[in-house]
Amino acid sequence: MLKIENLVVNYGYISALRGISLEIEENEIITLIGGNGAGKTTTLMSISNLVKKTAGEIVFNGTDISKMDPDKIVRLGIAHVPEGRNIFKKLTVEENLIIGTITEKNLPRKEIHSRCEEMFTLFPRLKERRKKSGGSLSGGEQQMLAIARGMMLRPKLLMLDEPSLGLAPIIVEEIFELMNRVKQGGMTILLIEQNAMLALEVADRGYVLQNGEIVLSGTGRELLNNPEVKKAYLGI
Ligand SMILES: Nc1ncnc2c1ncn2[C@@H]1O[C@H](COP(=O)(O)OP(=O)(O)OP(=O)(O)O)[C@@H](O)[C@H]1O
Ligand SMILES: [Mg+2]
Repeated sequence: MLKIENLVVNYGYISALRGISLEIEENEIITLIGGNGAGKTTTLMSISNLVKKTAGEIVFNGTDISKMDPDKIVRLGIAHVPEGRNIFKKLTVEENLIIGTITEKNLPRKEIHSRCEEMFTLFPRLKERRKKSGGSLSGGEQQMLAIARGMMLRPKLLMLDEPSLGLAPIIVEEIFELMNRVKQGGMTILLIEQNAMLALEVADRGYVLQNGEIVLSGTGRELLNNPEVKKAYLGI
């Protein structure tokens, strides 16, 4: 579904990605793990074409998206839920969801409404708070709202940048459970996580990034059992 080949990204003289290649198949959960500054966020930003590539190619379902406008990439079916919870604090939960469909012009009201209801089924906590302002939600609820907003376009590929950051373990579990449900619904997920243990448990496959390079890849299980991964990322 998505193929990255020899991607190089530099920020000035800082080399963030030094020629990475990876592939995502349809209906997989793929995780990128790696320490701070490894290049995980930059990888997602490159797919969405929000950073300038020095070299490399990204192909999505047979289309070269390397130089495509970011909004067109969204319309092709790639949703990006960035680091941090960029929700609109003054708008209600429901309005935040509706904004998620902004790139899809002429979407009938009825359709938007039914997608909102779908999200409320998936995230009952948001349903109870649908008329509340985004800013009044807890951190975990805001994170759920950011994910739900990303899903409003029914993307083929959902990219999540550290959805569990700063959340209580019980909420993190909820979010991970949700990923499995979303996958069953036929979506493909590219997940970035600091919590490597959880990520590898939920993922079909994973890639380990270190200093802008992919140093290891394998199934979630293989990586969980890999001695280097255990030592560097799992703390066991
Ligand atoms: N806007 C920027 N300008 C300059 N350098 C940047 C910029 N964004 C990232 N970098 C650098 O690029 C490298 C990769 O950063 P990136 O944000 O992709 O890492 P990450 O793996 O997502 O890290 P984290 O786990 O801390 O979020 C780092 O060395 C970082 O300092
Ligand atoms: Mg990051």
